[in-house]
Amino acid sequence: MKNIQQTNGVAIENYRIDSEPHYLPTGDEIEVFESAYGLKLPVMLKGPTGCGKTRFLEYMAWRLKKPLVTIACHEDLTASDLVGRYLLRGEETAWQDGPLSLAVKHGAICYLDEVVEARKDTTVVIHPLTDDRRILPQEKRGILLESHQDFHLVISYNPGYQSVMKDLKHSTRQRFVALDFTYPSATDEQAIIVKESGVEPEMAERLVRLGEMVRNLRQHGLEEGISTRLLVYAAKLMVDGVSPAAACNVAVIRSMSDDSEMQEAIAEIVAGIF
Ligand SMILES: Nc1ncnc2c1ncn2[C@@H]1O[C@H](COP(=O)(O)OP(=O)(O)OP(=O)(O)O)[C@@H](O)[C@H]1O
Ligand SMILES: [Mg+2]
Repeated sequence: MKNIQQTNGVAIENYRIDSEPHYLPTGDEIEVFESAYGLKLPVMLKGPTGCGKTRFLEYMAWRLKKPLVTIACHEDLTASDLVGRYLLRGEETAWQDGPLSLAVKHGAICYLDEVVEARKDTTVVIHPLTDDRRILPQEKRGILLESHQDFHLVISYNPGYQSVMKDLKHSTRQRFVALDFTYPSATDEQAIIVKESGVEPEMAERLVRLGEMVRNLRQHGLEEGISTRLLVYAAKLMVDGVSPAAACNVAVIRSMSDDSEMQEAIAEIVAGIF
């Protein structure tokens, strides 16, 4: 058993972020997060895809000098995938901590990405971790793990396109303080695109305008607005020598919609701007 503990101890170091991730604050999210971290209040990052949630948390983990254990949630994710399981090693069975146990033991920030995708019976595993008890039952071993004082739980959630069925249960969501992420302001988004891609500010400004206009198409049936991520992709393609028209075609028009009318509507906006 000692060997396994040691292996895990090394493993947690792999989750450290060595160099500063580029993150442009868009409000008071850094101060609020630091406060929540200090008070050990679990945090929920809410917002549409590609608006900076993951980048923000990477930045915060770097800033707080804590390892960041990220778990992408999906419907096949079981409690054992989070907590751990017995594995056969040669003739013997040995306990292997799951990523959540690893974070709890070593005081990492644990990020459950897209938590609504996880089954409800998986989600309840985090309940005793998110109240005063701060414990994680390892039921199969009959152990209660007490959280390291630095352990912090963060979940992300995109309220936009989830069905009612997939809404977060109140007994889960009311355990978190919620930081709302939206698309950055025009000035901020332009600065982000320039910094992330190296494109000329003038071109970034056009992409920001494109983003705003495409986001307005949500009133006309577009499911979700265009992410800052896609605008950065378009900018990177341009910096690499792809023409603006072609870059917007693959990074914006085609990726935003499969519907030919919607694609045409976006193409018109692109043609107007570039
Ligand atoms: N405030 C910001 N500072 C720096 N870069 C940003 C910021 N917001 C968005 N970006 C850029 O947008 C990209 C996508 O952001 P990120 O991966 O954090 O999105 P997300 O909100 O986690 O999306 P998803 O819900 O799909 O996981 C980043 O890789 C970065 O290039
Ligand atoms: Mg993310």
